[in-house]
Amino acid sequence: MGYRDVYASWKADPEAYWLQAAREIDWVKAPTKALNDTRAPLYEWFTDATVNTCWNAVDRHVEAGRGDQVAIIHDSPVTRTKHAITYRELQARVASLAGALRAKGVTKGDRVIIYMPMVPEALEAMLACARLGAIHSVVFGGFAANELAVRIDDCTPKAIIAASCGIEPARVVHYKPLLDAAIDMATHKPEFCVILQREQEVAKLVEGRDVAWHAFQYGVTPAECVPVEGNHPAYILYTSGTTGAPKGVVRPTAGHLVALNWTMRAIYDCGPGDVFWAASDVGWVVGHSYICYAPLIAGCTTIVFEGKPVGTPDAGTFWRVIAEHKVRAFFTAPTAIRAVKREDPEGKLVADYDLSRLKALYLAGERADPDTIMWAQRHVKVPVVDHWWQTETGYAIAANPLGIEALPVKIGSPSVPMPGFDVQVLDEGGHAVAPGTLGAIAIKLPLPPGTLPTLWNAEERFKKSYLNHFPGFYETGDAGYIDEDGYLYIMARTDDVINVAGHRLSTGAMEEVLASHKDVAECAVIGVADDLKGQSPLGFLCLNKGANREAAEVVAECVKLMREKIGPVADFKRAVVVDRLPKTRSGKILRGTMVKIADGQEWKMPATIDDPAILDEITVALKSLGLAGGK
Ligand code: COA
Ligand code: AMP
Repeated sequence: MGYRDVYASWKADPEAYWLQAAREIDWVKAPTKALNDTRAPLYEWFTDATVNTCWNAVDRHVEAGRGDQVAIIHDSPVTRTKHAITYRELQARVASLAGALRAKGVTKGDRVIIYMPMVPEALEAMLACARLGAIHSVVFGGFAANELAVRIDDCTPKAIIAASCGIEPARVVHYKPLLDAAIDMATHKPEFCVILQREQEVAKLVEGRDVAWHAFQYGVTPAECVPVEGNHPAYILYTSGTTGAPKGVVRPTAGHLVALNWTMRAIYDCGPGDVFWAASDVGWVVGHSYICYAPLIAGCTTIVFEGKPVGTPDAGTFWRVIAEHKVRAFFTAPTAIRAVKREDPEGKLVADYDLSRLKALYLAGERADPDTIMWAQRHVKVPVVDHWWQTETGYAIAANPLGIEALPVKIGSPSVPMPGFDVQVLDEGGHAVAPGTLGAIAIKLPLPPGTLPTLWNAEERFKKSYLNHFPGFYETGDAGYIDEDGYLYIMARTDDVINVAGHRLSTGAMEEVLASHKDVAECAVIGVADDLKGQSPLGFLCLNKGANREAAEVVAECVKLMREKIGPVADFKRAVVVDRLPKTRSGKILRGTMVKIADGQEWKMPATIDDPAILDEITVALKSLGLAGGK
């Protein structure tokens, strides 16, 4: 069956479609029904099933005789180490860790925060939680203590599992002091912390609270898999919204298993024994879905790569890993390919490696620009699949499903909607627009299995953020259009989210940080176009009357403050001091217009502007930074 037939068969009978897909999962109690719409517009899938994620990702492969197959390869150029773990070893390690967590009181439904770099133990921690039915929440290592504290207070974990340090090419990231500071700041206190001591930096443990990863597992009884209900939250993953408070995306257990397993064959064309590599980070959704869960559920070998696209040691690292570990499907962000392309424009380093096992390169996380796609096609010589998704969905909404049918590629488009997603482009009134017309991209409810059923402890916020604007639809927050052939084009966000090096960040959250500076009266943050990172944040600061400070000094303090409050990942390095911000007569800051001016795009004077002269002042300020066509 080709793509159009598969999509049509889903549309004709979604219930039958997903029950069929569910047959590939090992259930404790199989679902009798797929969709639960009793609380529409809130939906659940496979509510009456019971299942365990860890069993499906680990134990069942050992039972099936694949225990000696490698489950995880840790390839770490930053520590110059490589190490493989078989499914049998993984089962023993995860059962032991889960046993130790259980001995300290962690049970089904308890939350556990995981704050770890790219080491296999991060996956083991996630799987150990899944084994017990505990709900993990992984926090990206590039966030500052304050962001970790916010998450601690929101999901109130019983335990935190962390490493002593992470390793960035130019520095050691001291995780433990960040963790201690976060716990100090948070109102909620975890009962205990498990610390993985890495040899690059051994951390001081807090007596009575911290236990060492190995020591606390000594002599424990390994834990068996605990069956959970189909709608039990597998994990919470915080993502940026419009305000400083991150949104806790909830991932439901059964739908997650069914959908991810489905994607491994349909989109990535991988199965048991194949090597799958997503060069992302466990702190992001790509890492959850495609470093940890999906490849393991499908019985593949997954690669945990602790390095960067360039500089560890060079722009040939990706190709070295692919050749050495015989990777079949490779997934990364366009920004990573741009970084490689910048260092190796002729693709000379690609040619040094045997990439014959690689079948396709997958890109997501931000818009894939045509230059990047064409460079990859030319040098890597495999199909390049741009696919579009979000933390909220957990897997691709639109893709070119190579495992079903390789569709003609249209560069600039992440291709077509996947089964489960009825994607429509709507005007402000919620009416579908004609092909080729720009509008808000929405998905007809219900969303398919595995997508978010709600936000953690915030059902009203879930409805307000996603459901209320277009009744009957999920609002993606992206704008774009669908062409005559049904191909989607993602053009921009409709909210205050920007995308910096494939990392989703909230300008609203950054503005809250700037506004907390004692000399800042008012501020705005926009994302300006950046050749490498896609977008880069830029701040505008209006200082308090009488502040009497050097602009450069305040800017430097704000850059430092952002690093302390949000973290290095915000990549906030530029700001300008201006007298006033351009606003509408009703007081709304005209961020969109400022972005256009900064990027040197054509722009129109907004009819509602309060004082047009302010835009001249903004243009001058932008030119002083080399933006807005300035040098
Ligand atoms: N822990 C701690 N700090 C981290 C971190 C982590 N896990 N990841 C990034 N940082 C820090 C970096 O050290 C850097 O700090 P600095 O300001 O002191 O240099 C800052 O956060 C910004 O990092 P990054 O965005 O990675 O920029 P970079 O200039 O170091 O590297 C790229 C540029 C393009 C190579 C890099 O952004 C990249 O590999 N991007 C791919 C992103 C990705 O995979 N996204 C996942 C979505 S699929
Ligand atoms: P995240 O939740 O971090 O995965 O970010 C999701 C957002 O990244 C989407 O809403 C889009 O704005 C953007 N995005 C992800 N993939 C793509 C893509 N293939 N093309 C364009 N934008 C993308």
